[in-house]
Amino acid sequence: MRYIIGNWKANLNLEEVDNFCQEWNVATPNEKTVALAVPCVFYAYLATRKIGFTPILQDISIFGENGARTGEITVENLRGIEPPFTLVGHSERRRDFGETNEVIVAKAKNLMRAKITPIICFDLEQMEELAKLLQEFAPKTYLLAYEPVDAIGTGKNLSGELLQAQFKLIRQVFAPGTKILYGGSVKAENVAQYHDLSDGVLVGGASLKPQEFAQIVERA
Ligand code: PGA
Repeated sequence: MRYIIGNWKANLNLEEVDNFCQEWNVATPNEKTVALAVPCVFYAYLATRKIGFTPILQDISIFGENGARTGEITVENLRGIEPPFTLVGHSERRRDFGETNEVIVAKAKNLMRAKITPIICFDLEQMEELAKLLQEFAPKTYLLAYEPVDAIGTGKNLSGELLQAQFKLIRQVFAPGTKILYGGSVKAENVAQYHDLSDGVLVGGASLKPQEFAQIVERA
C-alpha cells in the first residue's frame, strides 16, 4: 500500500474548498490510500459528502475526553465521523506551538485508542527520542512521516544519495515494519524519486492544486 497524504494547512475558504471538490475527479487505485488533511472547520462538511477523497485532520487535542477545553477537538468529538488518519507533530506544530515528542505521542495515543491511525511527523533531530517513546506501540498502529524542516515549503530537493542514507538510518532506528512517508516540497515533477525509499508522501503546497495533486497520486 502507498500512502499519498495532502496537507492543506491553514489554507482555503469554503468557496475554494467547493471549487477543489468540483475539480477533483480521481478514482483512487486499490493499492493507494489518498487522504487530505483539511482545516478542521471543513472536516465534518467534507466527511459527510461524497467528494472522491478522504478528508482527515491536521491535529488532535492532547485531552482524550470531551469537556471544558475551549478551542480543542477531541477524539470523542469525532465519534461517528472518525477519519482513518490524523496528522500529529507536524514541524509547524513543533515550531509554532512548542509541541514536544511527549505531547505528540500523547496525542497519538488518544488517536490509537479511538482506532484512528496517527501520522506522526518528525525530523532527524527528534528521531531517537520519538522512536523510544513509540516502543510500546505496535508499528502497524501508526505511520511516520519524515519531513526535513529545510525542505518544507522551500522547493528544496534533497539529493538522492543523501535521502537514501537518511532513510537507511531512519529504518534502523524505528521498529521493523514501520511505514514511513516522505514530505517536503513534494511535487508532481519530483514525486517519483521518493517511490523506492518511502511508503508514500506527505504533500503540502502541491495538494492545494487539484490537477497537480491528481498527478502526484498517479505517479507516487
Ligand atoms: P510542502 O509541505 O509540500 O509545501 O513543502 C510539506 C508539509 O509541510 O507537510
